[in-house]
Amino acid sequence: MTAPIASGRFPLLGHLPQLAVKRVEFLQSVRSQGDIVRIFLGTRPVFVLNAPEAVHDVLLTQSRKFAKGLLFDVARPFIGNGIITSERDFHRRQRRALQPAFHRDSIAAFVGTMTDIAEEQVAAWRPGEVIAMDLVMRRMMTVMLVATLFSTERPDGAAAVAELGEQVAEHLTTVMRGVFVGTVLPAPIASSPALGHRKYLAAAAALGELADTAVRQARLDPTDRGDLLSIMFAGTPGNPQGMTDAEARDELLSLLMAGAETTSTTLSWALHELGRRPELTRRIRAECDALPEGALPGAATLPFTDRFLREVLRLHQPNWLLMRRALEPVRVCGVELPQGAELVYSAVTMHRDPAYYPDPLRFDPDRWLGRTEKDLPPGAYVPFALGNRKCIGDHFAMTEMLVVLRSIVSRWQPRPVEGHRVRPVVQALIRPDALPMRVSPWPADRTGPVSPECTTP
Ligand code: HEM
Repeated sequence: MTAPIASGRFPLLGHLPQLAVKRVEFLQSVRSQGDIVRIFLGTRPVFVLNAPEAVHDVLLTQSRKFAKGLLFDVARPFIGNGIITSERDFHRRQRRALQPAFHRDSIAAFVGTMTDIAEEQVAAWRPGEVIAMDLVMRRMMTVMLVATLFSTERPDGAAAVAELGEQVAEHLTTVMRGVFVGTVLPAPIASSPALGHRKYLAAAAALGELADTAVRQARLDPTDRGDLLSIMFAGTPGNPQGMTDAEARDELLSLLMAGAETTSTTLSWALHELGRRPELTRRIRAECDALPEGALPGAATLPFTDRFLREVLRLHQPNWLLMRRALEPVRVCGVELPQGAELVYSAVTMHRDPAYYPDPLRFDPDRWLGRTEKDLPPGAYVPFALGNRKCIGDHFAMTEMLVVLRSIVSRWQPRPVEGHRVRPVVQALIRPDALPMRVSPWPADRTGPVSPECTTP
């Protein structure tokens, strides 16, 4: 069986007009046209995986038959051959080497630094102040990533880490936009100066320079600081020498690319939802306030907040477009895919399918009450993907986001600014165009129990 072609294809342009105007809506609209359908980026065919079984099959069951595909070919010249872009044995070796940084114990050791960074930012807000939450989250999460993974104890101190984080955040946004443009548009158009190609290259070069400096500085001091660079330099059974400087640099870039804007965008959406639903803020605050001193934030200790984030990742999944490429002819859901076929899957459209999520556009953390991913068809909830390329930072990200939410809601009620309508911008990720929010302190007389669930007897 071959995959049907999605309706509305234009000669030469294929489905680019629809993708230019309403990207997510277009992908949503092709879901009813088959388990796998073909769309065209100009004249280039791309197979869209609609059925959860197809996503599960490609990401997990038959994962060895797929490479990461076009999106990552475009990213490689910008960010090198790190964990998100590399393939096969080299990828396996690098992933194994990085894994210790993402073990639960390592993440637990980062919670103190994460909390300090969040608290410092949040404590500086003033009652009634309007905060550009999207920009503040972007800065905060980049600084957190830089501080926890790359420079836990830099000799030049926290201010230098914060400054590095800020520089990284700025270049990163530009590079991600360049990768997105290069993926959806044919190369001659994507590389035109009118689309800012030089700016993307300059930002990538600046980012590379920052990573080179971080690696050089870390090499000068061979003590094990317990951060990611120390882990990269340490030998492993598969690679007793540890990583070279060039490999370590590429891994830094991969982790920055994968780990900063994903969490900051998800947190922005989380705050947007809290702004619209003050009762959820009160429930999260009650739960966080009851967290015993020293207890680690997690699904077991903050179950409602965890459910809330799970729902944010369902409805506002930042990665709306991910890709794979068939390395050999392969059959998925009865559809024959030729060698070299480019595939797309979108967690956003999957997570909004009414077949798996009744009333899918309603934001409701309690839809996860007593329900786990295992109660859904495999492949239907994939915020962190599946298989050998599953997000290595899933637990790290959830911990960071719980820490930040706790810091914000324990002091502030974030409210939308009157007259401002938040609109999604769909580029490399789906992010709010701007998220100004007014922060008000909680009234002195605490509101008491707000739901039976967070009542402490
Ligand atoms: C809410 C936050 C996050 C989301 C939604 C997310 C989502 C994802 C997804 C969907 C993938 C798979 C991409 C694919 O299939 O091509 C992925 C991969 C990856 N993520 Fe995350 N991620 C998040 C945060 C993080 C963080 C904080 C880090 C690191 C500190 C990280 C590091 C990575 C890496 C290294 C990969 C590539 C893994 C590999 O190919 O072996 N992510 N992430």
